[in-house]
Amino acid sequence: MGSISPSDAIAADRMAPTGIKVIVVGAGFGGLGAAIECHRQGHDVEIYEAFPELKTLGDIISFMPNAGRIFARWGAGEVTRRMRPLSIAHKGFNIRKYDTGEVAYHQLANEYSADAPTVNGHRGELHEVVFEYARTDLGIPIHLGNRIEEYFEDEAKAGIVLADGRRIEADVVIASDGVRSKARQIVLGYEDKPKSSGYAIWRAWFSNKDMVADPETAHFCNKGDTFNGWIGPNMHFLFSTIKNGSDCCWVLTHPDDHNIDESWSFPGKLSEAIDAVKGWDPMVARIISKTPESSLVDWKLVYRDPLPTWVSKHARILLLGDSAHPFLPTSAQGATQALEDGVDIATCLRLGGGPAEVPTAVRAHERIRYERVKKVQKTGESTRDMWHKTDWEAVKKNPESIKFPREDWVFKHDARKHAEDVYERTVRGIQQDLHEQQKQQPNGASLP
Ligand SMILES: Cc1cc2nc3c(=O)[nH]c(=O)nc-3n(C[C@H](O)[C@H](O)[C@H](O)COP(=O)(O)OP(=O)(O)OC[C@H]3O[C@@H](n4cnc5c(N)ncnc54)[C@H](O)[C@@H]3O)c2cc1C
Ligand SMILES: *[C@@H]1O[C@H](CO)[C@@H](O)[C@H](O)[C@H]1NC(C)=O
Repeated sequence: MGSISPSDAIAADRMAPTGIKVIVVGAGFGGLGAAIECHRQGHDVEIYEAFPELKTLGDIISFMPNAGRIFARWGAGEVTRRMRPLSIAHKGFNIRKYDTGEVAYHQLANEYSADAPTVNGHRGELHEVVFEYARTDLGIPIHLGNRIEEYFEDEAKAGIVLADGRRIEADVVIASDGVRSKARQIVLGYEDKPKSSGYAIWRAWFSNKDMVADPETAHFCNKGDTFNGWIGPNMHFLFSTIKNGSDCCWVLTHPDDHNIDESWSFPGKLSEAIDAVKGWDPMVARIISKTPESSLVDWKLVYRDPLPTWVSKHARILLLGDSAHPFLPTSAQGATQALEDGVDIATCLRLGGGPAEVPTAVRAHERIRYERVKKVQKTGESTRDMWHKTDWEAVKKNPESIKFPREDWVFKHDARKHAEDVYERTVRGIQQDLHEQQKQQPNGASLP
C-alpha cells in the first residue's frame, strides 16, 4: 500500500453513499458549507457559481462558536488550523461611551476552543480556506462562471438551466444564491422586495502603516490584536486590529434611508464618515482619518421580513443562507446560520434515506430550522437597539448590561446533533399535520 497524504485522509472522511444527487447554486459560505456537509454525509454534490474566478472580496466577517463547531469537524481540525492565523486574537472587547471614550465595560474574549472556536477575520481570506477545502481537499466539482437564471422541478426531480441552455438535473437543488436570490422568486411564486433597514454601514480594511506612525493610535496595533467599540445614539463604531495588529478594520453603522439595490461595495467618502462622528470622542475621527479612501465601502443595509417558506412546491428546491434569511450584522450570525442550514439539510437528506425521500427531508429541514433562524434574526435588532438607545446612568450601575450578548441557546447549538435528535419526530409531525389537512379537505393535494 502507498502512503496516504494528508489530503487523501481528508478526502476519505466521508459516510456511506446515499445515492442522492445534489446541485448547490452559489459558492458563498452558505453554498460551500452545504456542499461540504453533503459530501461528507455521503451525497453526490456539485456547485454552480456565477463568479468566474475566486477573488478575496469583502472585509470583516464573524463566525461564532456554533459555526466554529462545524468548521472544527472538517478535515479533523485541518480547516480551523488554516483559519486560525487569519483570525482576530484579541483578549477582550472595550465597550466605550461614544463622547467621552471611557470604557464602560470590558468584555473578555472567549478562550480559544479547538472544538468550537470563534472565527473573526477577512471574509475573502476565510472564504478562500473553505473554498479550497471543498475544491482541492474534498474534490467537490465547482463550476465557476455559471449564472443560473432558471430552475425547474416536478415530483421526482429538480434542476437548473445553464446560460448555454443545458439542463442539469438532480434530486434536490439547494439555492444558496445570496440576498439578491433569483431562486427566491421560483420558490415563493412572487418577487419579494427588500426593504430599507434605515441604516447604512461604512466599512474599511487597511494596513496599520499610518496607525503605527501616530503615537496616539499606535497602541491599537503594536501589542497584538485589539477590539474597541464606541456606542452612541443611533450609531456605533467597531474597530479591530488583526494578525498581530498588522491589519485594521472598522465598521460605522449609522442611520440612512437611501433605498438602493442590495450590494456590497459602493465607494465611501471619508469626509462623510468623519462628519457623522462630530461630537464623538476625537479618537474615532482619528482612526477614520488613517483609512485610505480607496478601501472605504458604503454599504446600504437592506433587510427582508422572514419569508413564509424556503421550500418550493414539490420540495425539491430549497433556499439556504442569505437567500432564505438575511441577517443584520449586529447579530453576528448571518454566515453562521447559513452554515447551520447546510449541516441540517445534509443530515436530513441522509436520515431521509434516499432520492425518493428528498421532499420529506427538505420539509423536515425547514421545520427544524425555521423558528430558530427567526429567533436568531431578531437578536440583530435587539442588540442594535440596546446599543443605540443606551441609558448611560443605568450602564454605570450595571456595566454588564451593555455587553454583546452571548447566549448558550445560540452558541452551544450543535446543528448536526440537533438534526439527528429531532428528525424522526419532525417527520411524524409533518405527516400528522398532513393527515389533519386531508381530513378537513378530503380531495386536497397530498405529499409525494
Ligand atoms: C462578494 C461578497 C462580499 C461579502 N462581504 C462580506 C463581509 O465583508 N462581511 C460580512 O459579514 N458578510 C459579507 N458578505 C455576505 C456574507 O458572506 C453572507 O451574509 C453570509 O456568509 C451568508 O452567505 P450566503 O452563502 O448565503 O450568501 P453569499 O455570501 O452572498 O453568497 C452567494 C453566492 O451566490 C452566487 N450567486 C448569486 N446569484 C447566482 C446565480 N444566479 N447563479 C449562480 N451563482 C449565484 C454569488 O456570486 C455568491 O458567491 C459578502 C458576500 C459577498 C457575495
Ligand atoms: C507581534 O508584533 C509585535 C510588534 O508589534 C512583535 O514585537 C511581535 O514579535 C509580533 N508577534 C508575532 C507572533 O509575530
